Amino acid sequence: MAIQPDQQDHTSIYRLATPRLSTRDQPGLRNLDILQFRNFEQTRLVFGPGLNLITGENASGKTSLLEAIYYLGRVRSFRTSGADEPVRYGQPGFRLVGQVATQTGQVVTVGIERGDGRYTVHMGGQNVRRLSDLAGNFPVQIFSSDTVSILNGGPRQRRHMLDWALFHVEQRYRDTWQRYTRSLRQRNAALRAHASRNEVGAWESDLLEAALEIDRCRRAYLEELSPYLDKEIDRLLPDSQLSLVYQQGWPEAGGLADALSAGFEKDRAYGYTRYGPHRADFRLQLDGHPVSAHCSRGQQKAILLGIMLAQVSYQQAISGTAGAFLLDDLTSELDEAHRGRVLTALRELNAQVFVTAIQGESIDLSVWDPGRLFHVEHGVIHEVV
Ligand SMILES: Nc1ncnc2c1ncn2[C@@H]1O[C@H](COP(=O)(O)OP(=O)(O)OP(=O)(O)O)[C@@H](O)[C@H]1O
Ligand SMILES: [Mg+2]
Repeated sequence: MAIQPDQQDHTSIYRLATPRLSTRDQPGLRNLDILQFRNFEQTRLVFGPGLNLITGENASGKTSLLEAIYYLGRVRSFRTSGADEPVRYGQPGFRLVGQVATQTGQVVTVGIERGDGRYTVHMGGQNVRRLSDLAGNFPVQIFSSDTVSILNGGPRQRRHMLDWALFHVEQRYRDTWQRYTRSLRQRNAALRAHASRNEVGAWESDLLEAALEIDRCRRAYLEELSPYLDKEIDRLLPDSQLSLVYQQGWPEAGGLADALSAGFEKDRAYGYTRYGPHRADFRLQLDGHPVSAHCSRGQQKAILLGIMLAQVSYQQAISGTAGAFLLDDLTSELDEAHRGRVLTALRELNAQVFVTAIQGESIDLSVWDPGRLFHVEHGVIHEVV
């Protein structure tokens, strides 16, 4: 069935009365309707609040299901560059609608529709214009074979990891971040228009104020994350010390205002602003050695999981919800000992967990109450009771 936006009345889906949860209910994704996403035609799934184990052969649709769940929280994929749309081949668009139980005991309906070359996002019956507004309701993390590129790739993914975490724990960060992005766009446009130093300077007071606030928030966050990180690294890589060094995005000596002034001519020649929190990064060392050059792939996975678990744990402490944690192809990505430690950590955090595996025997569902098992075959999913 194709999506035909003008023939389907979605209003009723988004305007569902908001049911109240009993206190026993945990936050998380309750159910998900998938329409024309990757190899799924149409399916409705009801998830458990604890572990949801998804098994199936290669190419059955396991990663695609995690991708659909991730989309609901972030309106982007974890595996495409943007060129490869997850719309089912031959269809004009896809639709995902999920009900998310929040930590305040409400159930919010979140819907994402892709069609006519654009996204429409609804939350609780309202159109969502800023994606950061989605962040508070359905925090979602993914760990898959590609995720270690966060450690080895360019700084953009590391910054994104930091900012996304801050969206969940610091309300005003979203506004500040949006203010900064806007000022930066304006300054860059002025640079490209070869504006004078004075004209470009006119955009800088707002930019500087937001930049320093972003920097303060990031530093405070990393400082507060530190004991959580120590705990998770100790769990996953006992006997090793991880150090994380934040780089603010402009020279340590002197302030950002000086860096912008001194770098003006070059900025104008390049057509963009070379200094600021949009160029921030963090460097990681394990026992004094740079992680990307020195650590094995297994150690890198453990470090990344340690950071993610620490973020979830801190977010849980601040906001009361651990959110959803997606682990793709868990049995081939991690050895048994690490698998056990990660799942134990997630159980302690009361996180909702989605795990995919070709075969599920090696994952003990019995310790999760109630764990749920799903099996996928050629884009068709059944719950195994
Ligand atoms: N846009 C699309 N439309 C339809 N099918 C697609 C689309 N994109 C990918 N597929 C197909 O969906 C199928 C499921 O892919 P997916 O990556 O979810 O499988 P998987 O179960 O995770 O497999 P593996 O165990 O190999 O990781 C594949 O056959 C893939 O070619
Ligand atoms: Mg897969």
